Amino acid sequence: MARRKPLVVVTRKLPDTVETRMRELFDAQLNVDDIPMDQAALVAAVKHADVLVPTLTDRIDNAVLSQAGENLRLIASFSNGVDHIDVSSALARGITVTNTPGVLTEDTADMTMALILAVPRRLVEGAQTLIGERDEWSGWSPTWMLGRRIWGKRLGIIGMGRIGQAVARRAKAFGLQIHYHNRRPLPGAVEEALEATYWDSLDQMLARMDIVSVNCPHTPATFHLLSARRLKLMKREAYVVNTARGEVIDENALARMLEAGELAGAGLDVFEQEPAVNPKLVRLARNGKVVLLPHMGSATLEGRVDMGEKVIVNIKTFMDGHRPPDRVLPSML
Ligand code: DGY
Repeated sequence: MARRKPLVVVTRKLPDTVETRMRELFDAQLNVDDIPMDQAALVAAVKHADVLVPTLTDRIDNAVLSQAGENLRLIASFSNGVDHIDVSSALARGITVTNTPGVLTEDTADMTMALILAVPRRLVEGAQTLIGERDEWSGWSPTWMLGRRIWGKRLGIIGMGRIGQAVARRAKAFGLQIHYHNRRPLPGAVEEALEATYWDSLDQMLARMDIVSVNCPHTPATFHLLSARRLKLMKREAYVVNTARGEVIDENALARMLEAGELAGAGLDVFEQEPAVNPKLVRLARNGKVVLLPHMGSATLEGRVDMGEKVIVNIKTFMDGHRPPDRVLPSML
C-alpha cells in the first residue's frame, strides 16, 4: 500500500516553483491568497498537521504548541531567524525545528552594505529631490547635500556569523576598517583575511566606531543589546545599521538620541513591532536622518526559492527518517 504523504501546512504564499514541488512531494495545504494566519488558525493547523511551515510573521508560542496534535513532529520554518518560535517548548514536546540558514547570507549582506552607504551619503534624500519629494535641485553646488565619507572609517559588526562575515568582506572592499564583537573570536586565518579586530567588550568597541552594524540573531541574550546606556557610549557622529532584528536595539532610545542629535543617523530594515514602525523614526526619515526599509534585506526571488528548497529538503529528510540538515539546537538559542 502506498505510504500516506505527510500533511504539510504552509502559513504564507511561497514562490510558485516551491509550492508546486511541495504539492508533488507532500499533501501540502498552501495559502495561495497569502492571508496571514491568526493565532486561532495556527492552533487549528498544529492540531492536524504532520509538519508546519511557518514564516517569521507567525507567532508559534507555547500557547499554540500546547495545542499541537500528536502528529506534529516537525516545524520547518521558512526563515533564518527562529525568534518567532518558542523553540524550547517545541523541543520539550519532541517537535524538531529547522530553519533556512546560509541562503540569505549574501542578499542580506548586500542590503546591509546598501544602508551603510545610503545613510552617510544621503542617497535617499538626494534621490527625493529629483522626484519632487524635497526642495528642488537647482544644480550642482560645492556645499549642497554633503554627506560623510565611508572610506577609511571604522565599522563595528555585532555578530560575526555568516552574515556578519559577508558584510565584513564587502565593507573591506569599500575601504572600511573592520572591527567586531562576537561570543567568540573568529579563527585566526579568517580574522587575518578580513584584517578584522576583535573586541570582547561591546562597550569598548561601540565607543570607538564610526558605523555599527547589527548582524546577530534576536535571542533572550541579545534583546536590547544596544540599550540606551550602550547607545550613549557611541560617538555623536556615528551611524547605526540594523538588518537583523528590531528587538536587538532599544528603538525608542535610538529615536530619542537621533532626534537630540546624539547620533548622526541610522539605516533600519527591521523594527521592534513589525509591521508597525515607530512614528518618531518615520519623522526622522522624513527629515533625512534615517533610511527605513520594510524588512527586505533578504528579499530576492532567488533567495526565496533557495529558502523554499531548504524547507523541502528539511521536510523530506526528516520524513525519510534522517536528521534534517538545518535542525535548530538548544545551543543556538
Ligand atoms: C529571516 O529569514 O530570518 C530573515 O529575517 C528574512 O528576511
